[in-house]
Amino acid sequence: MKPAATPLTCQRERFELPEGEHYINCAYMAPMSKRVVQAGMEALRLGTAPGRKTVDDFFRGSDVVRARFAELIRLADPARVALVPAVSYGLATVARNTTLERHQNVVTLEEQFPSNVHGWRRLCDEAGASLRIVSPPFEGPGRAAAWNEAILEAIDGDTALVALGSVHWSDGTRFELEPIGERARAVGAAFVIDGTQSVGADPFDVDVVRPDALVCGGYKWLTGPYSLGVAYFGSRYDSGVPLEETWMGRVGSDDFSSLVRQGSAYRGGAVRYDVGEVANFVLVPMLIAALEQVLGWSPSAIASYTRMLRDGLLESERLDALGIDGSEAGSPHLFGLRLPPDRDPEHLRAHLAALGIHVSVRGRVVRVSPHVYNDGGDLEALLQGLETALV
Ligand SMILES: Cc1ncc(COP(=O)(O)O)c(C=O)c1O
Repeated sequence: MKPAATPLTCQRERFELPEGEHYINCAYMAPMSKRVVQAGMEALRLGTAPGRKTVDDFFRGSDVVRARFAELIRLADPARVALVPAVSYGLATVARNTTLERHQNVVTLEEQFPSNVHGWRRLCDEAGASLRIVSPPFEGPGRAAAWNEAILEAIDGDTALVALGSVHWSDGTRFELEPIGERARAVGAAFVIDGTQSVGADPFDVDVVRPDALVCGGYKWLTGPYSLGVAYFGSRYDSGVPLEETWMGRVGSDDFSSLVRQGSAYRGGAVRYDVGEVANFVLVPMLIAALEQVLGWSPSAIASYTRMLRDGLLESERLDALGIDGSEAGSPHLFGLRLPPDRDPEHLRAHLAALGIHVSVRGRVVRVSPHVYNDGGDLEALLQGLETALV
């Protein structure tokens, strides 16, 4: 049996969060740790001496990103990982390699993050196919289970693609990826996951979930810089067409003296789907530092730590006294507090921000998303802020 991960203690000393602020909003953007900042600064400095940059420097960094992300999602072959500048780019790559017929449909979810909607809408519009947006059948207790059931029911013999977040970005609702993937495979549909809001903070095993593609922004739970993310592509996309025809994605691109005689064969796996200038000499070392730090903490230990913080808050009777419903609270690292109907969520967010408490408001839900730099004091500050706003 695998030994349990060592429990984490608060890691705030590894960050430089402003004194007196309670940043409980990793779902918005992770604060850069000292380690990630250091990697970026060193990388910037290297830019002063391009003469020392070797051919190997153009390829090694991105391959290390592939290897570290592969380790994170328990993927045996790192070549199946591409580096992408945004989730929209990774999903556009999937769309570019999807052919729809008129009678077919794409299944997706209500109020999903727009990067995981626009491309499917265009694809469906162009083919005259239908975009099936599955909503939670009702609000209140049992909502998540009923929503998962509705997703399974929406997938039928005409479904060409199922695209969803691993958890809902606005309140952390968990989607049962294994049965949904199984259903998608049973009807021959591609199973495409936006893992941005959970991979890194929650264990993910690609061999268990078996997506055809998994795209993750780098600047949230992977704790990396903005504008560089990662995407896994399964064998369904092995002979696909990339969005860009990069030279670095070709066999022989590491022979700089013969680039003009380069053939057109792509490098294997998902490397063809890399963004252009994938060597990105500043962001790549930062993302490596970020991935290594997440691997060092381990997603399962991060999940246990955030669970402890979340449960401490949700078990408080003071929350009930405010009329806040945390019963469908989503995931340990990303959960929603539903306000009583007469309360204005935006007003509450501004009140909290004035107290230095950073959370997000998504619809009627206050989204709380702690990470390892938070501690019980941050959640207590949130509770007190809610009390001063709502009592
Ligand atoms: C679920 C999810 N996907 C993707 C993104 C970012 O998308 P992109 O990288 O296309 O800007 C976000 C940002 O909040 C998100 O919450």
